[in-house]
Amino acid sequence: MLQQVNGHSSGSDAQGGGSLRKDLQKFLSGEAPLHQLDDLTKVNPVTLETVLRCLQARYAADTFYTNAGCTLVALNPFKPIPQLYSTALMREYHAAPQPQKLKPHIFTVGEQTYRNVKSLIEPVNQSIIVSGESGAGKTWTSRCLMKFYAVVAASPTSWESHKIAERIEQRILNSNPVMEAFGNACTLRNNNSSRFGKFIQLQLNRAQQMTGAAVQTYLLEKTRVACQASSERNFHIFYQVLAGLLHLGNIRFADSEDEAQPCQLMGDAKCEDRVGACVSGFDHTPREQGTPHLEKG
Ligand SMILES: Nc1ncnc2c1ncn2[C@@H]1O[C@H](COP(=O)(O)OP(=O)(O)OP(=O)(O)O)[C@@H](O)[C@H]1O
Ligand SMILES: [Mg+2]
Repeated sequence: MLQQVNGHSSGSDAQGGGSLRKDLQKFLSGEAPLHQLDDLTKVNPVTLETVLRCLQARYAADTFYTNAGCTLVALNPFKPIPQLYSTALMREYHAAPQPQKLKPHIFTVGEQTYRNVKSLIEPVNQSIIVSGESGAGKTWTSRCLMKFYAVVAASPTSWESHKIAERIEQRILNSNPVMEAFGNACTLRNNNSSRFGKFIQLQLNRAQQMTGAAVQTYLLEKTRVACQASSERNFHIFYQVLAGLLHLGNIRFADSEDEAQPCQLMGDAKCEDRVGACVSGFDHTPREQGTPHLEKG
């Protein structure tokens, strides 16, 4: 199909190619601005060019979610957009009679899945697959979904239920720095790239309130321990351990009269500047907020 768009086809295909080109021109110069197309199934003709042009127009208009039938396409804005993930917006999608009529959003997917569980007498497990290339925003999206469920999968009237949901979300998010230390690394595409797959299970009780969670990891990229591509790094943990060790090496203890008492640190033991200088030679890439930072250990 794409060959025809580019005009490379010959023979009887050429006629079809000509009409496709006309359709393409008509679509691209249509009255409705491209960024208003919130579902890629409305794109006509469906070619790589029209789909990409539509997504590009939406990206330029700061619209980062687009439906593609029952699939949601998320574009990485590469900048913080707090109002797109506010608690107020979560509640709006949760309370909407038909969330799919609102603008495409990851909260629509979250809410639809939640309602699927709620509406069934014998609930069926629901799964959300977040996939994409490295740096696309999968980890970010999973975090958004967990935050969403912590807000909606709690009784609106029970303070205790809210606390439980919040605590479960917090525990999962708090386990991230540890898991990411051992499983994430700086790559050319993503400073904090997950080098393993994650299956996160959220458990609900019969009243559809969150009661527990489990995280399973799989397919860790073990070969990274032994070798990394040029300008890429090993797992964060190795740099963190090294920075820990360098800190310890710089600590000096005061002589103690009584060995049964805890050691006292010497006054000049605060040596972060020196450690920073020692280890910064390993750090060749710009850091982002939230990425383990060598100097801080
Ligand atoms: N919706 C978003 N809003 C703002 N920033 C985002 C969003 N999604 C992703 N980002 C930014 O893009 C970076 C990369 O995203 P993320 O780590 O989620 O990618 P990934 O798909 O998990 O990549 P990998 O497969 O390498 O682990 C994040 O650190 C964040 O800065
Ligand atoms: Mg990731």
